[in-house]
Amino acid sequence: MDEAALRAQLAGLGASLFARGYSVGTAGNISVRLPDGFLMTPTNSCLGRLDPARISKLAPDFAHVSGDKPSKEVFMHRAVLTARPDAGAVVHLHSTHATAIACLAEPGEVAPIPPLTPYFVMRVGRNLPVIRYYRPGDGAMESDIHEAAKGAKAVLLANHGPVVSGRTLEDAVHAAEELEEAARLALLLRGAGARSLTAAQVDDLLSTFG
Ligand code: 13P
Repeated sequence: MDEAALRAQLAGLGASLFARGYSVGTAGNISVRLPDGFLMTPTNSCLGRLDPARISKLAPDFAHVSGDKPSKEVFMHRAVLTARPDAGAVVHLHSTHATAIACLAEPGEVAPIPPLTPYFVMRVGRNLPVIRYYRPGDGAMESDIHEAAKGAKAVLLANHGPVVSGRTLEDAVHAAEELEEAARLALLLRGAGARSLTAAQVDDLLSTFG
């Protein structure tokens, strides 16, 4: 897909996430890897109303090249995109249920959501490391996220929200949606003694679809 098509796809998927309540106000940001750098949603932009022409463009070293001023979370996206060379995109949301889990889980936990359903395992994987709280935009979060992202497609920022990568922008959005729904199920079933997938079932999913 060329850059113009990716800009249009980014605006379309942002609007879809916003329309379905995965993002509210100006929460959340998305980055996409390009052959000559990255696209990044502008700071204080609403994912529901992105103008493809104004999306920020960053150089390979993440310096701002063109478009509106990029998200304050450039460090967060850089942490994941440099840790995962195969990742084509990163989606950060404050989606309600994943953020609720981010308020309950202890930093350092690696599986705060049980493997209740196959698609959570297939899209997000076995690990969802919980990173300690940092102020939004604080560059100090970069090394913690970078280290955790080497072994995980997604991380959860304590009291803040999920950061999810994917091979493509669509993959990252799908994984972010699965993570939010898995978090919702986990909260719905909290304390109810729900059956999780077994370790063998998780292994089978990851060896078949991972
Ligand atoms: P930006 O508007 O700078 O992208 O920040 C929004 C956000 O989600 C902070 O975590």
